[in-house]
Amino acid sequence: MRLNHADTASGTDFFRNYGPWALIAGASHGVGAAFAHQAASRGLNCILVARRQAALESLKSELQSQYNVEVLVLCQDLSTVDAAERLVDAVERRQVGLMIYNAGGDPIISQFLNTSIDNWNRLLRMNTQTVMELSYAFGSKMVERRQGGLILVGSHAALGGVRKLGMYSATKAFCLNLGESLWAEWKTHNVDVLNVLISTVDTPTIRDTMSRLGIPEARTMALPQANDIADTALQGLAKGPTLVHPDDVVGDNDSPGSQRRAHVQAKSEEAARFIGDD
Ligand SMILES: NC(=O)c1ccc[n+]([C@@H]2O[C@H](COP(=O)([O-])OP(=O)(O)OC[C@H]3O[C@@H](n4cnc5c(N)ncnc54)[C@H](OP(=O)(O)O)[C@@H]3O)[C@@H](O)[C@H]2O)c1
Repeated sequence: MRLNHADTASGTDFFRNYGPWALIAGASHGVGAAFAHQAASRGLNCILVARRQAALESLKSELQSQYNVEVLVLCQDLSTVDAAERLVDAVERRQVGLMIYNAGGDPIISQFLNTSIDNWNRLLRMNTQTVMELSYAFGSKMVERRQGGLILVGSHAALGGVRKLGMYSATKAFCLNLGESLWAEWKTHNVDVLNVLISTVDTPTIRDTMSRLGIPEARTMALPQANDIADTALQGLAKGPTLVHPDDVVGDNDSPGSQRRAHVQAKSEEAARFIGDD
């Protein structure tokens, strides 16, 4: 039998803290679809964003029939300059208590000079400008209400440069630093922020990419499951700013996530001496 978190005491708390609507950017498959299932199983209505309407409509039917929640589908390319503005308009007066920005894989995977500047600009907009503008739009309302959560799905590539992943790793570092800073700013306003840094996860994109690049065992290699990562992230949402998967799942005091939390706290306190803490 499927566990429906909405029926449990912790499910009720989750809805109170992060409901009534979750917006999932990049929801049509893989980690994003898993987040939608996990949010809906906790009773949240879902706004599903991606480019492929048919995939989103199919997920909408699943969520409605399995969890009895409301679902809004918004087809939007997140790499356009006006993506955030269009989404905010389309959401209308629905109260977004949880925003999950999951889109952001690198469809190019190339040395910096081996593709067009237009391709890099599209990745840059999807992974920085749109994230920033949506965080601003929905985050400001959460801070005003003193209630809500923001999840930025990232990558271990955020932690340092990687050959053939220069723009990907740079944009993921942008998200990581933005998310950790917002965590430090918003925790006194009761708004939770969590970066989820993934090493590898079983998504259609990673399987297709591995196949395209001729990696042996591309279709059979055992990989962490998107559903487990999404569940872990929602359970740990209040323990920001950063969950480094899978290392932090063990959860010892010296885990990478604990070290990053201590770093952000120490640097924020140190900075307050020079730039104030208002
Ligand atoms: N897979 C891994 O092993 C791995 C490893 C480390 C980090 N991550 C991170 O985990 C997240 C999900 O990974 P993934 O492999 O599933 O990534 P993905 O292929 O980029 O797709 C994620 C979702 O984003 C949507 N999307 C992609 N480009 C879009 C665009 N321009 N506009 C609107 N929606 C767009 C896709 O749907 P549509 O195609 O329908 O638009 C899909 O629903 C990413 O942020 C990635 O960086 C993944």
